[in-house]
Amino acid sequence: MEQLSKGLALKSVSKTFFGTKGYFTAVEDVSLELNNGEFLVLLGPGRCGKTVLLNMIIGLELCTSGHILYNGQEKTGYHPDFGMVFQNIALMPYMTVMENVEVPLKIRGVKKVLRRDTAQYYIELVGLNGFEKSYPYQLSGGMKQRVGIARAYVANPKVLIMDEPFGQLDAQTRYSMQNEILRIWETEKRTVIFVTNNIEEACYLGDRIILLSDRPATVKETYNVDLDRPRDMLSNKFLLLRKKISDNTDLAI
Ligand SMILES: Nc1ncnc2c1ncn2[C@@H]1O[C@H](COP(=O)(O)OP(=O)(O)OP(=O)(O)O)[C@@H](O)[C@H]1O
Ligand SMILES: [Mg+2]
Repeated sequence: MEQLSKGLALKSVSKTFFGTKGYFTAVEDVSLELNNGEFLVLLGPGRCGKTVLLNMIIGLELCTSGHILYNGQEKTGYHPDFGMVFQNIALMPYMTVMENVEVPLKIRGVKKVLRRDTAQYYIELVGLNGFEKSYPYQLSGGMKQRVGIARAYVANPKVLIMDEPFGQLDAQTRYSMQNEILRIWETEKRTVIFVTNNIEEACYLGDRIILLSDRPATVKETYNVDLDRPRDMLSNKFLLLRKKISDNTDLAI
């Protein structure tokens, strides 16, 4: 009997592309179930197939084989319960912060006053009040990431998917954004799927870490992270987990 339970489940999901060099498998036989409210981290080396996997989850790509189920139903396209912060943020350069955050609401035909109020709530939640009228070129990398996060949250997704959102940030901003994302997650109580290639970041953020292999991406190991929050990156338990994962990775990530 197929799974009828609530939530997201991937069953032996694979993706093969056909290009100039023939067939190429980016994701192979990935199975996982998402727990409600959890912070799930997908950790894998560069170009292992993480974005391809997320694209299948959000519904931008179809699986070559396997199934993605949501609340017991086959999920083959976009579902409004899901939101995504893309790897390259992709803000509209000619729109202000407020206008960028409002885009998902505008698409849904939400009336202007409600749109403004909702967008304002999320702009404040990500710490950008005062920058509503700024344009993307006037913002730092971390601020642009915050706009991307506010824009994803404004559509009220039950599951927020983030594709290496802090990959382009300097170390200091990255640490502060990690704390920000945890604060927002604790305030909003949504389920998060967070992709990274950074082991320390995975150990700091995840309730559960799924370690992916090098190409094609397969599930190598699952770690349930039994560390209290806020986590201490220099505690023995943290460093032990970090080393355990590091010793199990395919490449230096
Ligand atoms: N539409 C496509 N057609 C053909 N090959 C693709 C396509 N999309 C991705 N690939 C290939 O699949 C592989 C995995 O790509 P993907 O973008 O998922 O990697 P990634 O793990 O997200 O990497 P990074 O950490 O650099 O973001 C790459 O070799 C890429 O060239
Ligand atoms: Mg990627």
